[in-house]
Amino acid sequence: MPGTYYMPGVNLIHRGALNDAGTWARNLGGHNALIVASTGSYGAQQGQMVAAVLARSGIESTIYAGAGPNPTDEMVMQGVQLYKGSHCDFLVAIGGGSAMDCAKGIGLIVSNGGTIGQYGDGVDQATHDLPPFMAINTTAGTGSEVTSVAVITQAEHHHKTTIMDWRLTPDVSINDPELMLSMPPALTAATGMDALSHAIEAYVSTVATALTDALAHSSIALVFQWLPIAYEQGSNIGAREGMCHAAFLAGLAFNNSGLGYVHALSHPVSGKYGLPHGVVNAVLLPTVMRWNAALAGTKMARIAVAMGAGHPWRTDRENADKAISAVIDLNRRLQMPSGLSKMGVEEADIPQLADAALQELAGTTNPHKAASVEQIQQLYRQSL
Ligand SMILES: [Fe+2]
Repeated sequence: MPGTYYMPGVNLIHRGALNDAGTWARNLGGHNALIVASTGSYGAQQGQMVAAVLARSGIESTIYAGAGPNPTDEMVMQGVQLYKGSHCDFLVAIGGGSAMDCAKGIGLIVSNGGTIGQYGDGVDQATHDLPPFMAINTTAGTGSEVTSVAVITQAEHHHKTTIMDWRLTPDVSINDPELMLSMPPALTAATGMDALSHAIEAYVSTVATALTDALAHSSIALVFQWLPIAYEQGSNIGAREGMCHAAFLAGLAFNNSGLGYVHALSHPVSGKYGLPHGVVNAVLLPTVMRWNAALAGTKMARIAVAMGAGHPWRTDRENADKAISAVIDLNRRLQMPSGLSKMGVEEADIPQLADAALQELAGTTNPHKAASVEQIQQLYRQSL
């Protein structure tokens, strides 16, 4: 169970944590921030909100509301130009995974030069530290505020580059549940099920450790305690705070133990059909859990206990079945689609999707390996 652990040095999770951003910016030695936010008026508003907080600590800033969904290398390069042109000396991301990944890309190029494509092959390709970097999360799910990973699409080839580098890890992460009160139910459900997928995949990963197990187990329990309430009562601050912790713990877990077939099968589907990552994960999760229970039965049984669905007097197999049923029930309560076909996925596309899934790095730590591409195809068919 060898472990090498990556995580931000400072992590704030509490109501009003955004107000501490100025203090931590000063602690990082920043004077002039590039604030990276999502595109559109909503991103601009979030950027202005952060700029106002930083200004109270005497810190100047420039807002770049240019991180679209699936951020591209072009968006990164525009941010790099703005960072340099405005003489910025640190980075603040506000938003979900897209804004944070875009900010990671900007920091990488600002400090190391070159193009995004140069950093996608292999791990830890950067040779210089990024500028000081604070990540402020507004969705409880992706975990990007704590991870050393960024996914950037190369616009010219429509190719997603996954950059894994310990230097991408933010210095400070902020999860403020007050920023999540306005998340609509569908986004709450999708990001929450993404977090649950991270936790379950991290828990049964082939390189899980005592630390990632503890993180993932607690995350699973918190999702089952708080996600239905956050979905049904969006203004419940306690539920939002619970989901902040759940997603944060799951992010730390998978950043250090990898993922599995849920993410390996999900990426080609969301890429081809433009479907929300968390929703595709939610649909695939019961099928992949059933497949993995064959070789990770004891851990799947412990997952049932974390969910509040398992009992010690049952066999591992019985408890694993309870865990799978609990996920199916949660999907139903969150009004997730009952299958991939309901989202427009065509059976004729499955061979192509399965070929792509086998290439996904996320699958390398799945406990039950497919012996052939036909077995991956079968998992897709079982999820239709
Ligand atoms: Fe995910």
